[in-house]
Amino acid sequence: MSNVRGLYIALISVHGLIRGTNPELGRDADTGGQVQYVLDLARALSERPDVDRVELMTRQILSTNVGTQYGEPIEQIADKAWIVRLPCGPNRYLHKETLWPYMPQFTDEALQHFRRIRRVPDVVHSHYADAGVVGVRLSKLLGATLVHTGHSLGKSKQLRLLDKGLAPETIEKRYRMTRRIAAEEAVLEAADLVIASTDQEVEEQWGQYLGGSPSRMLVIPPGVDLSRFRPPRRGNPPPAVAANIDRFFSQPKKPLILALQRPDERKNLATLIRAYAEHDELKSRANLALVIGTRDDITKLPKAQRTILTEMLMLIDRYDLHGSVAYPKSHHPDDVPDLYRLAAMRRGVFVNPALTEPFGLTLIESAASGLPVVATDDGGPSAIIGACRNGLLVNALDAGEIADALHEVLVDSGAWRRRSKSGVRGAHGFSWSGHVDRYLKAVRRRLRSRVRRRPTEVPRHPLVLADRLLVCDIDYTLTGDHAALDRFRGWLDAHRGEVAFGIATGRVLSNTIRALKQWRIPRPDVLITAVGSEVYYGRRRFVDDVGWRRLIDRRWEPERLREVLAAVRGLRLQPKADQRPFKLSYFIDPKKAPPIAEIRRRIRSAELDAKLIYSHEAYLDLLPARASKGGALKYLAHRWGLPLEHLLVAGDSGNDTEMLTSGAFGVIVGNYSPELEALRGEPGVYFATAKYADGILEGIEHFGFVDGSESAGDDIDEG
Ligand code: GLC
Ligand code: MG
Repeated sequence: MSNVRGLYIALISVHGLIRGTNPELGRDADTGGQVQYVLDLARALSERPDVDRVELMTRQILSTNVGTQYGEPIEQIADKAWIVRLPCGPNRYLHKETLWPYMPQFTDEALQHFRRIRRVPDVVHSHYADAGVVGVRLSKLLGATLVHTGHSLGKSKQLRLLDKGLAPETIEKRYRMTRRIAAEEAVLEAADLVIASTDQEVEEQWGQYLGGSPSRMLVIPPGVDLSRFRPPRRGNPPPAVAANIDRFFSQPKKPLILALQRPDERKNLATLIRAYAEHDELKSRANLALVIGTRDDITKLPKAQRTILTEMLMLIDRYDLHGSVAYPKSHHPDDVPDLYRLAAMRRGVFVNPALTEPFGLTLIESAASGLPVVATDDGGPSAIIGACRNGLLVNALDAGEIADALHEVLVDSGAWRRRSKSGVRGAHGFSWSGHVDRYLKAVRRRLRSRVRRRPTEVPRHPLVLADRLLVCDIDYTLTGDHAALDRFRGWLDAHRGEVAFGIATGRVLSNTIRALKQWRIPRPDVLITAVGSEVYYGRRRFVDDVGWRRLIDRRWEPERLREVLAAVRGLRLQPKADQRPFKLSYFIDPKKAPPIAEIRRRIRSAELDAKLIYSHEAYLDLLPARASKGGALKYLAHRWGLPLEHLLVAGDSGNDTEMLTSGAFGVIVGNYSPELEALRGEPGVYFATAKYADGILEGIEHFGFVDGSESAGDDIDEG
């Protein structure tokens, strides 16, 4: 793996409808700014020579209610950029509030995708809280750098809704706020870099959360795709869209005040109309175009929109603004650049009087089109106008102030030209290419410091890249004969690129690490410990696979089990250090104790459930019914997308049984305990003659475990 290779960046944005051509922005509440943002970011990143693959991972939707494109597993959107759609819950479209239960599945599907293309992302960049859950897990599992963008935050929304008078229970039920906020807290804690659009987002929004260190925050406003937005050329005829606007005006040549917004209460449309109507000079000097979404029949709109549009029409009528206000029913998204250009041609002004405006994309589009602006004095506009010097900030609650500002921008033609020009210049600083410059610089810094901090950590995960996985029990399988273990070590060293190495043991983690050191066993890539009730990754720092714990946590009542077993002869609890949350372990004296089947029967008749594992004629472990070394092995194979035929396991005693018969190649070393005799004749299980680690090598040879394998990872299937 050469390190001259460019970056592989995985962007994760789970909800909404995402496609490369004609994105249906505004189709519903989940398909809006964020969708545009991630598409633009993916394309802009992929244009960099030092980036060689960008994937935008999202949810696959297979439904006749939405376009077939949303079901395509992969869609190329630029030379080096793809949308990758992963199964996630039911096939149908789901709103973001209901996606939470499917995030673990999304994580697993992502891992399997990485295995399919045989590449581990250098950077995982999650967007919004739902993807944050996936990002945190992936970055932990893969050791990838985690970047996160919040897009909007639960705590701010909660406050807004409480202010509006919604009951806390309603908010919780409708928006799953607790879950969302917990996810935001976790990702803030885990991320190497959090990208915010404005300082205000950092201070007022992320500021409500604990745990984020300011040094990890990076403010870069979203880039604007400026290719569509440019000032009008002298002498050009008005764009076609002019007809749709000018038919409202008695004097279409007048300067044009343009408002372009969704019918949303926050956008403060009524105040704007009043401002215009009550300022006589402004009214006579300029026309006003209100491009407020697209509608067919106002009476059929959702109530909130209906109210806003009805009020608009009534105000126009009350102030008798006919002939000077345009309010087209519909416009095509492609018309938007022309609308700004038309207003710029007419020496007009763009106005955004929203009550709050954390960002304000339209202001940058306007600036790039050479159209000066008047906007609400809030975070987004003040940053944009500060950089572009192309207009005035106003108090959105003060209609008089809005009107005065509009008038001021329109009357002074020298100032108008200056603002128009400096807006065009300033807007370039907000382009995606400018955004990506700063993004990659920060990411590279993080990647470098990660290498400095943990030089030995393998950044590219063996479970994704290796073709095969070898999992060995420790005691009396790997251990027992030093010379044999030396031979095994030599074999593994020679094959480590193609073979990932794991251990599966009855020992708890701390005890496992001790044994690894003591016997100088090669560092495993994955550890199945406590008889298969826990799974960890990593060679130095260990990452707990919480997904496995969650999966086995069913009908597990260790206290009651202890009560039942207290009455059984021949059993003695093992020391505290050997008990784990999902492992209850005893010493058993087979001469005194009843048969295992009898113990099992007593547990059942107490209406309890547990898996009983008997080893070495000396140990009895109780685990949740789904747990075992074999269960953990199958889970690993599934999670990382490894077919069972690419796995070989080796063991010597009872707690290895399920793993040996899981469908992977099974090798029983020559020195095995009697309880494994029962496996003789099982398909796929090989009884080696050689003992200890030599037995493992004999089994590898017997099955042709590596020689028969095709070489892995040469050609990447791009879909
Ligand atoms: C290891 C563990 C012990 C367990 C035994 C059998 O020796 O330390 O707790 O009972 O394996 O699985
Ligand atoms: Mg053993």
